[in-house]
Amino acid sequence: LKLGVLGSGSGSNMQAIMDAIDAGTLNAEIVLVLSDNEDAYILERARKAGLRAEVIDCGGFKTKFPDDKQAEVARRLKEAGVELVCLAGFMRLVKQPMLDAYPERILNIHPSLLPNYPGLMAWKQAVEDGAAESGCTVHYVDAGMDTGPIIEQAKVPVLADDTAETLHARIQVEEHRLYPEVISQFVGK
Ligand code: GRF
Repeated sequence: LKLGVLGSGSGSNMQAIMDAIDAGTLNAEIVLVLSDNEDAYILERARKAGLRAEVIDCGGFKTKFPDDKQAEVARRLKEAGVELVCLAGFMRLVKQPMLDAYPERILNIHPSLLPNYPGLMAWKQAVEDGAAESGCTVHYVDAGMDTGPIIEQAKVPVLADDTAETLHARIQVEEHRLYPEVISQFVGK
């Protein structure tokens, strides 16, 4: 299964995917890593591992992901032979040009039990809300923000002395287990 990974940050979820591939538990190959942030560690991490890693130039827009750029990204993914697109900490909203190119073939991992706490810093939202539990969700991407059909979730408790950081760390442990596992369900499909 040929994967494309899109991320804007540290890329620890991409690392978990790489580790599962190395361990032989995920029969896949990361053929292209793309980031809208040229300084993101995900690019360095990917290059260190010998993966093809490139920048998405969003034309100076901070959060916007213009349609023509999305069409270009879809072309680049197709040219690289990508069969499944994995968003891993990608901070821009994917819209129709990419969704049409990869129907039901774009996944995202989100650090909450959706539909609770969509959007930014979901772990912080959970702590501030006094939630008793949180977790992570792997879902299909649609045109909304963290709204696509849920594939799988993993729960973690929120402890009385949790800060946003300690909860995020606990959620990330589950993310790193869950994401490769869900991706493996797409092998051969
Ligand atoms: C993860 O918590 C993921 O759920 C969210 O962004 C974070 C990315 O972390 N969408 P990393 O770049 O994979 O370390």
